[in-house]
Amino acid sequence: KVPKLTLNNGLQCPALGLGTWQATPGEVGSAVKHAIDIGYRHIDCAMLYGNEKEIGEAIREKLKEGVVKREDLFIVTKLWNTFHEREQVVPACKNLWKILKLLGELDVDFPFKNAVGLDYDYVDTWKGMEECVDLGLTKSIGLSNFNSKQVQRVLDAARIKPVMNQIEVNPNINQKILIKFCRDRGIEVTAYSPFGSPSRPWAKPGDPVIHLTDPKLVAIGKKYKKTAAQIVLRYVFELGTIPIPKSTNKQRLAANLDIFNFELSSSDKAIIDQFNCNGRAVPAMELKGIAHYPFKDDEF
Ligand code: A2P
Repeated sequence: KVPKLTLNNGLQCPALGLGTWQATPGEVGSAVKHAIDIGYRHIDCAMLYGNEKEIGEAIREKLKEGVVKREDLFIVTKLWNTFHEREQVVPACKNLWKILKLLGELDVDFPFKNAVGLDYDYVDTWKGMEECVDLGLTKSIGLSNFNSKQVQRVLDAARIKPVMNQIEVNPNINQKILIKFCRDRGIEVTAYSPFGSPSRPWAKPGDPVIHLTDPKLVAIGKKYKKTAAQIVLRYVFELGTIPIPKSTNKQRLAANLDIFNFELSSSDKAIIDQFNCNGRAVPAMELKGIAHYPFKDDEF
């Protein structure tokens, strides 16, 4: 059974979700349906992934079948940075939920200058996000890929606090400092790429990867009768985050849910802590030179 966290707006969020980035159209719908059948109640989407229509259909089918009730599902999508100007936010939010034909939680993704070169301030974007809440266009609002300074700037100006910051978390980048920063301020953290997204298209030889055959991870797994992947997920969960592993495979979907019946010892966690090397799977290198690039402040 997946535990739940209570967010700062009183809503509940299941502590593990299904990631859908790189889940291809044609395949993602059946993965989502199976995931809901076996107990996933939190689904993470983004317009950028190009598969939301199919995800929305799959979720609605499960609602219609009565497998799950809407109030038990936590559905997240993201406002990509081509829609971050103040006046774009409300129409974009309407459109996002129209594609999914659902209403859920919206995160502002990547506090960057937008792709067509127009400048904006993500604090103004946040005002648009608050308007979405006022208008009943979204249940919760959050952030994604914000560093601690950026989170603080939003908090200083916010009328409605972000419930979440979604960031990359895995053994290669365990984000202990940013996680503490957010949680101390009542903001929960969702962990994307908990396995370091091994099949990301831009990975080059020599880039950081997490080997699920790593002898240290396999040895820890043996102790708890778990796979290395389950050890990694449990570690990410015990960091105080909500992992959203992506899978479209039935066996792996089930395995990824089965991490709530054991606890890692502190010595095992210390072994996994040693993987930490600022090794981002999603460094967004192409945006490194621009204003608001979020990752430089958290580098070490
Ligand atoms: P698949 O969809 O075939 O299961 P991340 O969530 O870090 O982006 O990683 C997703 C990648 O990890 C996908 O390639 C996915 O492949 C794979 N994956 C997901 N769950 C597991 C697991 N339990 N064991 C091994 N690989 C997994």
